[in-house]
Amino acid sequence: MGRFAGKTIVVTGGASGIGKACADMAGAEGASVVVLDRHNCDVSDAASVQHALAPVQRIDGLVNAAGIAERFPLAEQDEAGWRSVIDVNLFGVYLTTKYALERMSRGGSIVHISSAVALIGVRNRAVYTAAKGAIVALTRNMALDYAPKGIRVNCVCPGFARTGLTRGIFADLEKRTRIEAMHPLGRMGEPEDIARPVLFLLSDDASWITGIAMPVDGGFSAGHQQDV
Ligand SMILES: NC(=O)c1ccc[n+]([C@@H]2O[C@H](COP(=O)([O-])OP(=O)(O)OC[C@H]3O[C@@H](n4cnc5c(N)ncnc54)[C@H](O)[C@@H]3O)[C@@H](O)[C@H]2O)c1
Repeated sequence: MGRFAGKTIVVTGGASGIGKACADMAGAEGASVVVLDRHNCDVSDAASVQHALAPVQRIDGLVNAAGIAERFPLAEQDEAGWRSVIDVNLFGVYLTTKYALERMSRGGSIVHISSAVALIGVRNRAVYTAAKGAIVALTRNMALDYAPKGIRVNCVCPGFARTGLTRGIFADLEKRTRIEAMHPLGRMGEPEDIARPVLFLLSDDASWITGIAMPVDGGFSAGHQQDV
């Protein structure tokens, strides 16, 4: 049994990191899990998303975790990189959600993975923060549009977690120590630290929660740590 027995949950980016932890944990709690990742689907391509979802008749939950990053200030960001981040992190969310909604006629729960950098500014991530900020705004819009259909829409805003996206940080001790110190709880997150709140929002335990952007970040977005 489990909280998701008899439910079908789609997870984009479910082959790695946060998405994989969500997929594994939802499966362990009884869900039929459908993973959309680069090996079977490009979330930024409509035909690819439609093809991947074609065999899925009913969807109860959707986690939009597929994502990529570029690390430049705006003027140093090339056009191709800007477009690719918007294509995957924003247009991909639009496409997957659009075709998933067609299969959510009995209601459901959608969780987008935004980022703590949508809540407080960081340097050197112009297009990534633009896309993640848009996801927070989109979450509120969708919560209002789809509440009458019994569909809840929330997002989580993770701090830095150990995944494929942050491999470079973990490999560099100086960088890792500096970034750990930015999290008041004193460590970077593990994918499961993010997946547990995602599963809460997906589940009926969160049946009266919609339209929120939940920081899951070891205190990263709580404020400055220096004495003032
Ligand atoms: N790791 C962090 O510190 C952190 C912090 C905040 C937010 N996030 C967000 O969490 C989400 C998950 O990232 P992660 O950290 O687990 O990284 P990850 O690289 O481990 O996982 C991302 C997954 O997305 C997939 N993906 C990328 N482009 C795709 C495409 N076009 N179509 C289908 N799948 C695609 C990748 O193949 C990969 O499996 C992302 O949206 C990321 O922006 C991560």
